[in-house]
Amino acid sequence: MNTIYFDSDDCEMLRRERLYAGQIYVFSPTENGLALCNLAREMCEKAFQPYSPPEAQHHLDVEQYIAILKDLKPQFIHHPECKRLIPALLEELGCELSQTYFDVPRLRTACSGDYLSSGLAYAFKPHRDTWYSTPMSQLNWWLPVYPIASDNAMAFHPKYWNQPVKNSSSQFNYVDWNAAGRKDAAKQVGKDTRVQSAALEPMELEPQLRLVAKPGGVILFAAAQMHSTVPNVSGVTRFSIDFRTVNSRDTSCDHGAPNIDSESTGTTMMDYLRGTDLEHFSTSEVKRQGNAKPVPIYPTLPDAIQKEMAVTAEA
Ligand SMILES: [Fe+2]
Repeated sequence: MNTIYFDSDDCEMLRRERLYAGQIYVFSPTENGLALCNLAREMCEKAFQPYSPPEAQHHLDVEQYIAILKDLKPQFIHHPECKRLIPALLEELGCELSQTYFDVPRLRTACSGDYLSSGLAYAFKPHRDTWYSTPMSQLNWWLPVYPIASDNAMAFHPKYWNQPVKNSSSQFNYVDWNAAGRKDAAKQVGKDTRVQSAALEPMELEPQLRLVAKPGGVILFAAAQMHSTVPNVSGVTRFSIDFRTVNSRDTSCDHGAPNIDSESTGTTMMDYLRGTDLEHFSTSEVKRQGNAKPVPIYPTLPDAIQKEMAVTAEA
């Protein structure tokens, strides 16, 4: 059963355990969450001027739009202020910074309609981030930059928390992706040819859960959650920020969400920076995680199904 905790006072350790068990947390806007969103807004507004960023897709042709995103996204990702605001936000929401490592924030755009749905505005189909070489303890932090609605939000697919999906993650290696994938993103117009981990079987997208948080608020979930980009039919572009964290106590003993279907290789461990001093994980820890062979452990089947199987076996 999935539970959503709103503005919970749970201590961080309990919160991590609940996240690893498939629960989701939502937080109202905080001072530093708003500051991070305001930084993104200022940069977007400057880049798209004289247009309002959520409306700009209606005024620019696709090539112009892509050219703007090509500069805007890296500028935000590497803005020095982000490295100050993210630890401040993590601390504000109860994280022990000396154990919390974060990666650079991504600025995402989900355009309305079929204006642009590949490359720099890749519309993510249902996936788990753990199909992309993350530790099973990775947590995702997701913030809307402008107000969102149900028809331009992101969706969770909770029935797949316990249900493995046939997927191509065994073909995904983060080191290869880094070498080739990202640098080609700006060339992908109309059709995305980069190797992505993807489901290899039809998926049931209902029931799905869409959470509508305010700008500067946070949706916090395990990287193992099945989630997707909602087809945007709102008429405006959705701008959001996401970044990820891992806790070093959990990575050191490979504690995290259960791995039920990920076989991606390599690791994202080299990307995370410690909240206190922006130090990376040690080379040996990155190497250890990178060499680990993912072995999905299929979840225990629900009691009812086990009983049914036992009856069938006896018959
Ligand atoms: Fe994702």
